[in-house]
Order: sequence, then structure tokens, then C-alpha cells
Amino acid sequence: MYTIQQYKDSVQYIRECLDGFEPELLMILGSGLGGLAQKVEDPICIPYGDIPYFKRSTAIGHVGRFVAGRFGGKNVLMMQGRLHAYEGHTMEEVAYPVRVAGLLGIKKLIVTNAAGGVNLKFAGGTLMVMSDYIKFTLGNPLIGENIPEFGERFPDMTYAFDKEYRQLFKDAARELGDNVEEGVYFYMTGPQYETPAEIRAIRTLGGDAVGMSTVPEVIAANQMGMRILGVSLVTNMAAGVLDQPLSGDEVIEAGEAAAERFQRIMTAFVERM
Ligand code: HPA
Repeated sequence: MYTIQQYKDSVQYIRECLDGFEPELLMILGSGLGGLAQKVEDPICIPYGDIPYFKRSTAIGHVGRFVAGRFGGKNVLMMQGRLHAYEGHTMEEVAYPVRVAGLLGIKKLIVTNAAGGVNLKFAGGTLMVMSDYIKFTLGNPLIGENIPEFGERFPDMTYAFDKEYRQLFKDAARELGDNVEEGVYFYMTGPQYETPAEIRAIRTLGGDAVGMSTVPEVIAANQMGMRILGVSLVTNMAAGVLDQPLSGDEVIEAGEAAAERFQRIMTAFVERM
């Protein structure tokens, strides 16, 4: 368990690096989407490894640093690389940077990820705005002594993803002549991809996309009262939809192929926020 003092020490270090710059928005960039960090004006880069109590990101395609600066007309803090439970981190560790951002005064969160398409209409390249999530796996960033600075013991999750942000993102895409879907993100810890039977079960339970990230951060951010937009890039049809195995390379390639389009819509969304 981290203590509130540890969180405050991390905040203090980041404040010193930011040197008066005050971010209003945290953006967690998922697989293949880290390129958005290159679009930040006058960037201040803070490697996670330099921040007291931060864990390093070891996942492929995840650089492992904060990039702060101007983006889409806003003061943003981007996470270029995130932590996942499958790297051996507890959910509390995965959510740590989000809580630090909350203590920095950030009240808005955009979280993106790569996901498998469970909904049969979602082919590779589909962008899905998260309307809700399902998490049935063990582990939870809120388990343990409740730290009142973060919020209530039993936070409400009725509107885990902000309704207005969901609509704004869809509007931004439409104005660019693009189309985005909406659906439920089903969380799995991984790191193995799902079995075809698991995917059928997830579909029956109401999942539209499946992935190995995002939900721990969304839970912690909700507890802190942040407004959240979540977007999945469907990189592949989930296991068993097609009669062929999945590969990590496919996920990375699809992420790269869709990166530019995704970045364009995201920029338009941030401008409208
Ligand atoms: N399953 C879980 N996570 C994923 C997938 C998938 O098919 N694709 C990208 N991330």
C-alpha cells in the first residue's frame, strides 16, 4: 500500500519539473498511439523512472514518461506509456500516475487503448468510444484502506464515462467525415489473448471490445471525480471470430495504420473540450 505522503512526494517532484505549467487534462496513450506525444508544443518530458515511487513501464511500444505541454489549445499532461497488471504491477500501482495527476489538480482524463473486437461488426481499424466497462477479474486499485483525499469508500460508477465527452468525440469524428462506434469495454488481465470460448462468453455478457488495460485507471479517476473519455482502437477481431491465431505484431501494425486518423479525431476532440 502506498501512503498519501508517497503520492504527495511524487506530486512535488512533478510540480518542480513543470516549473509553473499547470496541466488541466491527462491523456493516457495506449499501444500504437504514443505518437500523439510528438504533437505537444514546448514539451516537458519526465521519465517515470525519475519520479519518486513510480514504476517503469516495460510493455512494448510504451516509452514510459510524462510529456507536458500545449496540445489542441489545452494544457495537457500525456502519459506516453502506461502500466499494466500483466507486467506484474498491482492495480494500485497501475492507477498510481492517475491519482498523482488528480492530486496535481487535473479533473479531465482521456484514456486510449488497443482492443480486440468482440462485437462482430467491429473489424480491425474500428474506433470505439467506451460507453461503459465490465471488470470481473481480481484486483482493484480501491481495495485497502481508503485514502479520503481520493474520494469515497464506495464510489458510484453509473457514469464511468462522461456522456457529453462521448457525444463530442463522435461529433468530432463525423465532422472529419469519419465514423466511430460506441460500446462496452471488457477488461481481462492477460497477458495471454482470450480463448474463443472466453470471447463468446464476453459477447454474451455484453462486451463489445476486450483488452488488458484502462479499467484500473478509470476506477481510480472516477473515485477522484474526473470526467473521462475512453476510446479503444480495435486492432484485431477477437479470438475465434476468424479461424486464425492472433499475434502481437498484428496489434502493433494495426495501431500504426490507424494512428494518423485517430490522432486527427483526438486533436479535434481536445479542441472542443
Ligand atoms: N484481446 C485482448 N487485448 C487486446 C486484443 C485482444 O484481442 N487486441 C489488442 N489488445
